[in-house]
Amino acid sequence: MQFFEIPQLLTREQVAKARAILNRAEFVDGSATAATIGPAVKQNLQIKPDPEIIKPVLEIVQNALMSHEAFTGAVFPRKLHLNINRYENGMFYGDHNDAAIVGHVASAVRTDISFTIFLADPSQYDGGEMVIRAPTGDVEVKLPAGDAIVYSGSTVHRVEPVTRGARLATFGWAQSFIGDPTKREILAQLRATRRAIIEDRPDAHYLSDLGNAYNNLMRLWTEN
Ligand SMILES: [Fe+2]
Repeated sequence: MQFFEIPQLLTREQVAKARAILNRAEFVDGSATAATIGPAVKQNLQIKPDPEIIKPVLEIVQNALMSHEAFTGAVFPRKLHLNINRYENGMFYGDHNDAAIVGHVASAVRTDISFTIFLADPSQYDGGEMVIRAPTGDVEVKLPAGDAIVYSGSTVHRVEPVTRGARLATFGWAQSFIGDPTKREILAQLRATRRAIIEDRPDAHYLSDLGNAYNNLMRLWTEN
């Protein structure tokens, strides 16, 4: 899995609610959290970690991700770490790879998978495209508010300079129960195939054996 999109992960109502809350929130210089690269590469704003304000927004996002089969069926999420940022006119984040571990001690998350959920519509800002470096070349992503882009934590990516308006987004990382991306891919494919068969032929006699093999493979490869 290099990357995939999840259209309408958040409803219009959820986006509006998140934006209304975040309008009251304070944002601080985001370059402070890019210790090894600094302001030449990263110029953006990150939300002040005030749990009273951001908790309801992060809960909406976490619940949406954890209940969406496109996400859970490809990522096998064990832990999430979420944040919120804003890019105003002139702000950008140059080519970088995310830190391998985010958060502290008990809540630390290995960044197997990265994701961004757009909270501003493309009509509200110019620039601010997310660019993911893929084996076939750079891929530009700029999605409607509420849509998500999910990509491998191992990619190099950037956010192009914003030239009008403000790009508001929630972003974060998932640590997967399946750390090896090749194994994760195999399980995702098996899971999707099994679900398709359940849909098409719910009475197929071999489904119990297929389910048994899937669950046994999961048990074999799951990390905790
Ligand atoms: Fe990043």
